[in-house]
Amino acid sequence: MPFSLLRGLALSLALVSLAHGAGTDSPAGGFPPPGVDERADALLKRMTLEEKVGQLVQFSNGKATGPENVAVDQNELLARGGIGSIFNAIGAKTVNAMQRIAVEKSRLGIPLLMGLDVIHGYRTTFPIPLGLAASWDPKLVERTARVAAIEASAEGIRWTFAPMVDIARDPRWGRIMEGNGEDPYLGAIYAGAYVRGFQGSDLRDPASILACAKHYVGYGGAEAGRDYNSVDISERMLRDVYLPPFEGAKNADVATFMSAFNTLSGVPASANHFTLTTVLRGEWGFRGFVVSDWTSIAELIPHGIALDGRTAAFKAFAAGVDMDMQANLYATHLVGLVREGRLEERAIDDSVRSVLRTKYALGLFENPYCDESLAEKVLLSKEHVALAREAAEASFVLLQNGGPGGPPVLPLGADKAVALIGPLADAADDMLGEWACQGNKNDVVTLRAALSERLGSKLLYAKGTEIVGGVKDFEEALAAARQADVVVMAVGEHRHMSGEAASRSSIDLPGNQRALIEAVKAAGKPVVLVVFSGRPLALSWEAANVSAILQAWHPGVQAGPALARVLLGDVPPAGKLTVTFPRSLGQVPIYYNHFKTGRPIGGEDDGGKDSGARFQSRYIDEKNSPLFPFGWGLTYTTFEYSPTTLSRDRISLADLNAGKTITVEATLTNTGPQECAEIAQLYIRLRGTSVARPVRELKGFEKITLRPGESRRVRFAIGKEQCEFWNIDMKHVAEPAALTVWIAPHSAGGTPADGMIDP
Ligand code: BGC
Repeated sequence: MPFSLLRGLALSLALVSLAHGAGTDSPAGGFPPPGVDERADALLKRMTLEEKVGQLVQFSNGKATGPENVAVDQNELLARGGIGSIFNAIGAKTVNAMQRIAVEKSRLGIPLLMGLDVIHGYRTTFPIPLGLAASWDPKLVERTARVAAIEASAEGIRWTFAPMVDIARDPRWGRIMEGNGEDPYLGAIYAGAYVRGFQGSDLRDPASILACAKHYVGYGGAEAGRDYNSVDISERMLRDVYLPPFEGAKNADVATFMSAFNTLSGVPASANHFTLTTVLRGEWGFRGFVVSDWTSIAELIPHGIALDGRTAAFKAFAAGVDMDMQANLYATHLVGLVREGRLEERAIDDSVRSVLRTKYALGLFENPYCDESLAEKVLLSKEHVALAREAAEASFVLLQNGGPGGPPVLPLGADKAVALIGPLADAADDMLGEWACQGNKNDVVTLRAALSERLGSKLLYAKGTEIVGGVKDFEEALAAARQADVVVMAVGEHRHMSGEAASRSSIDLPGNQRALIEAVKAAGKPVVLVVFSGRPLALSWEAANVSAILQAWHPGVQAGPALARVLLGDVPPAGKLTVTFPRSLGQVPIYYNHFKTGRPIGGEDDGGKDSGARFQSRYIDEKNSPLFPFGWGLTYTTFEYSPTTLSRDRISLADLNAGKTITVEATLTNTGPQECAEIAQLYIRLRGTSVARPVRELKGFEKITLRPGESRRVRFAIGKEQCEFWNIDMKHVAEPAALTVWIAPHSAGGTPADGMIDP
């Protein structure tokens, strides 16, 4: 059966006309820019079928970021137009050399798209994305992505496989570090910020690189948090939670998507016609192209929906994957599939046109090469490093200050003797975090180096233990603690304990680190933990045993200076969690926007006290509430929120649909000693609706800086957009409902106000 017929069968009538790769008349946003369609069409007419298929083929040059590199003669393929994109080629010289073969030796001279995983910086390494997200500052994130694009493009990279916008609710999953956390609303905002940063305002600017929204879709929902594992979620959950960040990327004109490894409710994401064509091209009008993940087309065989490579290539292509990363199956089979009548050449044309459009949009035909002297001037420039420090400072989350029951110990104050203890105090390489691209440990300033510069002889240091394993002799550490006024302990995970293929079955501090903390406590000095990790760790014991905890993620090249400034009080911490920190692994998956059970445990589910009654939804050995909720983060002052108020407590559905809104307000006051920033958050809950809605949903936020004693009225509008959801008929609409609203410091705080959306 030819492909177009198959497509017709699978789609509703209304969608049949929307071609794979999308026709030229589908709703266009800012991508592709004007003029490129005509040029792509003209070139397409001159191409042989083999050359067309070549544009849909991608190979890694050099390092493998997946199981194995396929053995093909890349230079020979390039010369006959058999490769459309190369990735993992590093350095301007290498990139230009490959480009030269494509441009000067192949018949049509079509330039290559050079791709790379530029995730949180290129050479200037910023905090890992989960840390950047804790800034609640999309503009800052956009600036980091811009710098990453400037540096990567200086070495000839014009396409990054980022942002990863997968929602993650399970901290066992190692790739939680690479995303923005658990919230779809925030996820969509950050997706847009990354896309704008990478792609810039004009793709033809040589410093603009294509972004790629990945991994489409559901990858973060891996069962049991084990990487690559199956995902089974309802269409409603998919649309309410997992798709919005991808749609956010599309709305920001992202040029490419990457199809994921996982099966999604039984259908592999890289052969999923519903997500790749019905939703992405049909509903959203996406006109860029989709690349598979590393060999994810070949993985249709182990998934069990193809018995051989030919079928795998057919199924992935027919579903809507335009480019084959690394499996070598499109190169091997697409021409044959067309010749034997199983695929129409028209479908191949659609995909090729999408790829060519991006090459024209980037100005690659005019300007295929990069200036080999540029990188030296651009990489790690003073401004870029300054931004790395600013971003790191904004990413830290003060989880606790003054526990258990003690006075705050942070900021430290410059007159104190400090014992710096722990395996991450001087671990330059680990500060880079996973997916650190061209990050180099020699560029990193560690916490030890930075504190030593600030404190001189008042700083004592002992490593104490390795991160994993190592001897259990804590004598040197204890001796340092005894001589000091305060102990700062740098603990956590090394950089390879999170990221791809780095799921953990325990989320405790690894190795002997808890034992080290226990030993050091014997000195009787206040202990401040600085936790470096790519995921939420279970820190219940630590919270009950140390004074302060600062979550530092993996902060990048400026880890030390940023931390020293926050610990010593030059800048107050201002980050808040975008992911829930559980009390223990048994609570996982745990996330703030869950549904309420029919047997809630009373108070605790609503932020009060658990009634303790039986036959209710609880553990017999653990609380339901997390250790630190989504949105949580302290600073060096205190903020008070007045009760939330509504401008009107009723609104009709008709008014809501006509664009009328309710204004929500609360007064925020800085009641503490210092000027600091607070991230005020707007949450809603809907009840009486056709389907159950989460106990809270984030719908807005604002970062506000106040001086001591200063107050500000915080205002948000609630309208149709905030109240819509996928209802019982799978329509995205607002419904009559009881509405509860909070302006709150975090997802478990604030005093609510009640209103009604009337029929
Ligand atoms: C990852 C992708 C990455 C690709 C190329 C895969 O293993 O899942 O996120 O972009 O490799 O390096």
